[in-house]
Amino acid sequence: MNSQTEITSDPSRASEILAAGGVVALPTETVYGLAARYDDTAAVSKIFIAKERPSDNPLIVHVADRSWLDRIASEVPRSASTLLEHFSPGPITVTLPRSLNVPDMVTAGLNSVAVRIPSAPLFQQVLQSVGVPLVAPSANRSGRPSPTTWQAARDELIGRVDAILVGPPCEIGVESTVVDCCRNPPRLLRPGAISLEELQSLIPDLTLYQPAPSKSERPQSEPAESLASPGLKYRHYAPRIPVHLVEDVSEIQSDPQAMLLTTTPHATPQSWGHYDCFDSPEAYARELFSAFRIAEEMGLHAIYCQRVPETGIGRALMDRLRRAAQDTRL
Ligand code: TXA
Ligand code: MG
Repeated sequence: MNSQTEITSDPSRASEILAAGGVVALPTETVYGLAARYDDTAAVSKIFIAKERPSDNPLIVHVADRSWLDRIASEVPRSASTLLEHFSPGPITVTLPRSLNVPDMVTAGLNSVAVRIPSAPLFQQVLQSVGVPLVAPSANRSGRPSPTTWQAARDELIGRVDAILVGPPCEIGVESTVVDCCRNPPRLLRPGAISLEELQSLIPDLTLYQPAPSKSERPQSEPAESLASPGLKYRHYAPRIPVHLVEDVSEIQSDPQAMLLTTTPHATPQSWGHYDCFDSPEAYARELFSAFRIAEEMGLHAIYCQRVPETGIGRALMDRLRRAAQDTRL
């Protein structure tokens, strides 16, 4: 494990470290990622170690534009090309049949590879200058909320990675929409800022993948391959403090030792340990993971989060909230 982590705001320095086989946390439009060259298994294995990530959870490969796809995919199904054409660069990931260039460690042995074209200018600059696709999971330790600021990435990974590229807070705040394009019709595996409604406006028969029962309800012996996306079986996005989902904010008692995140004003906002009332689900999604970290830093003992309707980015927000609360009811 690396004990010296360089903090830099120079994308050329970050590129130099990556090109030489280092691992670097960097900003994307969704969440901060932890990047390495996709073709260097020593570098990729550093990511798994730094994050304490199970080796059966595959990584997303990031490319600068669609002309790089043939390096990592053996073909691009029509659904994937439609989605990439409309939503990339941006917060969408598609799975494609993999090329044999992609190491097994990246795909966790699956026949597909997940690909994303990020829009964040700093990440684009780094991709162009390294000139090689970069794998990048979220820059948190496994199971923790994804970092949405460079300071949060530093707090998760200092001493474990070669460098952190300082950039702005993430615009979206939740991870990309993941669509399985290796089957017909394609399926939405992980909701994100590109909503189910937007996906279906282009591909009407695209379906919503309903994850299998939660970990506690599933036999321990069930293999990862039986899930469409291995990452879905792990607990995610969880702060160290219990998260409670709330339907009606007027029915809960304020608590000076707790945080309330809501979209409808509470009668006594000042009597909460920390209180945020968001004017849109987009703002709620953008601030969610950072609010979780504030609650940890303040030493609060509970986080109450108001539910939101499951349309648009609300579906992604509810997915993250349920996982954080370990409430897998659909
Ligand atoms: O917004 C994002 O996607 C961020 C930024 C950094 O780009 N990355 C990210 O990576 O969220 P990660 O590793 O935290 O989540 C990737 C998810 C996991 O649930 C993983 O199991 C799934 O994508 N995945 C990766 N490759 C896959 C594949 N070939 N088939 C199905 N699911 C895959
Ligand atoms: Mg992640």
